[in-house]
Amino acid sequence: MKIIMLGAPGAGKGTQAKKIAEKYKIPHISTGDIFRANIKGGTELGMKAKSYMDQGQLVPDDVTIGMLLDRISQDDCQNGYVLDGFPRTIPQAQSLTAALNERGEKMDYAVDVDVPDEAIVNRMGGRRACVKCGATYHVAFNPPKAEGICDACGDSLVLREDDKPETVQKRLTVYHDQTQPLIEYYSKEGILVTVDGTKGLNEVFEDIVAVLGA
Ligand code: AP5
Ligand code: MG
Repeated sequence: MKIIMLGAPGAGKGTQAKKIAEKYKIPHISTGDIFRANIKGGTELGMKAKSYMDQGQLVPDDVTIGMLLDRISQDDCQNGYVLDGFPRTIPQAQSLTAALNERGEKMDYAVDVDVPDEAIVNRMGGRRACVKCGATYHVAFNPPKAEGICDACGDSLVLREDDKPETVQKRLTVYHDQTQPLIEYYSKEGILVTVDGTKGLNEVFEDIVAVLGA
């Protein structure tokens, strides 16, 4: 099964993508996590991405598209994958569609996790992220078992650089300008599913499973 997660920054794409990946035994591919791992590792790709990310801007398509298409060509992607944070622009979506067409494949679902901007700003300050494995927590809504420590891998949790309130606003503006048009793109392809992302984490997941199948 091949799934795209759509939704604003902080809507819960990463949270739900991790649960989907576990349940359906497919890899969770987050372009944001790949960039953050590269920044942490001090790679050339990380250096290219950092300045854009810290300002809440998108990393240019010429960097992002090749990276993602390489990733989904790897062996672990043969039975599908869940894409989190890609595509984020119409050119990214067109490149993905074209690359899949060449292989006679197509995406199965684009799941839009719908949350209004006001709710997002409230969520972001409480988020804590693990840069090592990509797990995400919230100090109130989804706390780790031990404060500041990742349940999954034991690394320390951080407040992301781009979760400062002014940067969150910028990311929301970029989302509405560049990413929201993908909702129409995938609606036209006939694979769009919208879920109410303001519900609790588990309820949102149940709504997604109701569509994808148990
Ligand atoms: P990325 O890492 O993808 O960030 P984003 O899209 O801004 O999304 P977030 O990770 O902030 O939110 P999320 O929807 O995953 O929410 P989460 O599950 O954590 O990208 C970062 C940057 O990388 C971009 O700004 C860009 O610069 C660059 N980039 C990445 N991909 C790119 C691309 N394709 N092209 C160009 N540039 C790219 O949840 C948020 C919080 O809410 C958490 O604390 C969580 O615990 C909590 N929460 C989740 N669900 C619920 C719920 N139902 N109720 C209450 N709390 C909840
Ligand atoms: Mg995320």
